[in-house]
Amino acid sequence: MSSTTIETPNYPIFITPSAGEELDRYLQQKNYTSVFVLMDENIMEHCWPALQNDSEILKEAEVLVIDAGEEQKDLEVALQLWETLTEYEADRKSLLVNIGGGVISDLGGFVAATYKRGIDYINIPTSLLAIIDASIGGKTAINLKNLKNQVGLFVEPNAIFIQTSFLQTLPPRQWLSGWAEMLKHAIVYDKGFWNEIKNIKDLNLENLEPHLRRAIEIKKEIVEIDFKEENLRKALNFGHTLGHAIESYSLENDRDFLLHGEAVAMGMLYASALSVKKGLLSQEDNLEIYEVLMRFFKPYKLSDDFISRLESLLNQDKKKDATGFNFTFVSAIGQTEIDQYCTLEFIIESIRLFK
Ligand SMILES: NC(=O)c1ccc[n+]([C@@H]2O[C@H](COP(=O)([O-])OP(=O)(O)OC[C@H]3O[C@@H](n4cnc5c(N)ncnc54)[C@H](O)[C@@H]3O)[C@@H](O)[C@H]2O)c1
Repeated sequence: MSSTTIETPNYPIFITPSAGEELDRYLQQKNYTSVFVLMDENIMEHCWPALQNDSEILKEAEVLVIDAGEEQKDLEVALQLWETLTEYEADRKSLLVNIGGGVISDLGGFVAATYKRGIDYINIPTSLLAIIDASIGGKTAINLKNLKNQVGLFVEPNAIFIQTSFLQTLPPRQWLSGWAEMLKHAIVYDKGFWNEIKNIKDLNLENLEPHLRRAIEIKKEIVEIDFKEENLRKALNFGHTLGHAIESYSLENDRDFLLHGEAVAMGMLYASALSVKKGLLSQEDNLEIYEVLMRFFKPYKLSDDFISRLESLLNQDKKKDATGFNFTFVSAIGQTEIDQYCTLEFIIESIRLFK
């Protein structure tokens, strides 16, 4: 992909054939006392050699490597990272560069935002999900046991560097996981974009690369309008109320548990069906969403055990308040209705009907 920059009010997003070279150019104008790099073991294997090769600054950086996986978004790991930064005498003018998927940008952003009351951080996202969603918009967090993103801050990165060629080594299920969020961007915000991507059949760099810029812009535009998720940004929660419940349940009960995006895809199926049941969405649009999702995602069976635990799973949702369980629904492809409250009975009845 040729070089291009997407400007946000507070930081640039560089899309570049060489994130390492672009990073060096960017950092030449900065005055950091030291540079730290955070990545997981897979990134160390697949992306780090090229980055280090292309960047003089990264060659000299202190490298922090953690295991891969959602379990790393954890207080224990954050503590180890704060301690390592302290050991290496990172100061207020140090920089943390997060290289990896959404786990690394969420965790690294959180560690940077809290270390010495906040040091600068940069994201180099390497998964599809992180490129089009997690690295953008300044939501940083760790999980608290199985409560997703329970502790965190809104702090934006200082820059984002995207090298799409890194996607060549992304495992197939991780493509799917990111694809779910990309479809979500289209469903909640941009019917034209939906029409552009809805007929894609194979998930690979060649098919998706022409559409990445628009997917990134959608996230950027929404965050620009509503950084603190008080209104429009809630649209991005489409599929996430039931999606998070399904994800938590699957994490606890399945050996081969669902990835975040796979659970969100299931959440979107149900949120569309609930949108119809609420009288908001036409059956025609619902069917179109259903058909596109079903082309890619295996249905996840919501068992009687899941339904019996649904209330406690939904109670963990951060959007829940005294009024009830809070959903984002769609009124048409490209248009959302936020703050849609549902009772547990309504949700269960709809799930049973859907089954
Ligand atoms: N902050 C936000 O706005 C936001 C938005 C959406 C999701 N998230 C969070 O993002 C996380 C999920 O992100 P994810 O799906 O990127 O997961 P992840 O960070 O676990 O990455 C997925 C897997 O792919 C590997 N990987 C990443 N890039 C690779 C590459 N180029 N080649 C080979 N392997 C590669 C990783 O090592 C990991 O094993 C969740 O914790 C979710 O809550 C945050």
